[in-house]
Amino acid sequence: MIQTLEWTESGVRFIDQTKLPMEETYVTCRTCDQVADVIRNMVVRGAPAIGVAAAMGIALGVQHSKAKTVGELKPEFERCCEVIGQTRPTAVNLFWAIRRMREKFEALRVRPLPEIKKAIIEEAQRMHAEDIAANQAMGRFGAMLMPPSGGVLTHCNAGALATCGYGTALGVIRAAVEQGKKIHVYADETRPFLQGSRLTAWELMKDGIPTTVISDNMAGAMMKQGKIAAIVVGADRIAANGDVANKIGTYTVAVLAKEHDIPFYVAAPFSTIDMEMPDGSKIPIEQRNTKEVTHIAGKQMVPDGVAVENPAFDVTPAKYVTAIVTERGIARAPYGETLARLAGQAAMSG
Ligand code: MRU
Repeated sequence: MIQTLEWTESGVRFIDQTKLPMEETYVTCRTCDQVADVIRNMVVRGAPAIGVAAAMGIALGVQHSKAKTVGELKPEFERCCEVIGQTRPTAVNLFWAIRRMREKFEALRVRPLPEIKKAIIEEAQRMHAEDIAANQAMGRFGAMLMPPSGGVLTHCNAGALATCGYGTALGVIRAAVEQGKKIHVYADETRPFLQGSRLTAWELMKDGIPTTVISDNMAGAMMKQGKIAAIVVGADRIAANGDVANKIGTYTVAVLAKEHDIPFYVAAPFSTIDMEMPDGSKIPIEQRNTKEVTHIAGKQMVPDGVAVENPAFDVTPAKYVTAIVTERGIARAPYGETLARLAGQAAMSG
C-alpha cells in the first residue's frame, strides 16, 4: 500500500512526489516549518493530503514545544497555523484542517499540557484515518456511476498520492474495478507539473489497472473517437452552488465532455466542500512559478522574456458537473440544495 504521509516516531514521513516515478524516496519533517515547505514545494500535494499534512505539521509544533503553560503554547500553536496557512491558497482542506485543529486546541485549553499534546497528535492521526474511510465510502457510491466496461478519463492525480490512501477519483475507479468492472483509465498528463503521467500512471500501474497516458490536448479527440465512457476528477474546493475548483485544465475537459455527451463526475470529501463560498468566482487561484511552464525537466523550452502564466487551478461551473460523489452520498443539480442537504445530514448525525 502506498503511504503518502504518515505519523512516525521520528516525525511526519512523506513520499517525495517531486521525485516520482523515477525515484521512490521519503522525506521526514520534524517541525511545522518543514511541513509548510514540503506542502509549498509539492513534495506532498492533492487537497486531502495537504489538509492532513497541515494537521500533522501543527501537531509536530505542539509535540516539540518547550512551553511550560497553555498560555505559552498558544502563540506557538498560532504561529504554526499561520505558517502552514500561507502555503497554498486554493485547496480548502488546508484551512478546514487548521480550523479543526484550532477548535480542538480551544476545547482542550483547560486540560494539563501533556494531555493537550497527546490529544492534538491523536486528532491529526484521526484525520488521517478518517480520510481513508471517506475515500472508501466515496468509492462505494461512485462505483455505481462507472460504466461496466470502457474508458474512463481522469485529470491530474486524485489518487492515493493525493490523499491518505485509496484516493477520491481514483478511489471511485478502484472500487469499480474491485466490483469487476472492466475499466481502462485514460490519464491526462496534466501540464505543467505532470501529476497525471508521473503520479496517476505510477499508482494505477502498481494496482494493475490498465492505463493509457495522453497529453492534455488529446482528450477531445479521444472523446470524439468514442474511447471515453465517463470522466471522473477530484477537487480542491467546491463552492456551495457546485462550482468546482480543480487542477488547471479540468474546465476544458468538462466543456468537451458536455459537447460529447459524456458524464463528468467529481469525487471529493466534505472537507473539500466550502459551504461558505457561494460560488466559484471568489475561489482564490494559486499562481505558481512560471518556471514550471517554461522548463521541462530542467531544460528551458520557452524564449527568454516572453510572457508566461501559470495558474495552478481553474473553476468548472456547476452546469458541467453531472454529479458530485461525497462520502455521504451522491449530489446532483441543483447543488445549492443537494449539497446543503448532505451537509445538514452530517450536522444532525455528528
Ligand atoms: O497542485 P496539486 O497537485 O495539489 O493539485 C491536485 C488536484 O488538483 C487534485 O485533483 C485535487 O487536489 C483533488 S486530490 C484528491
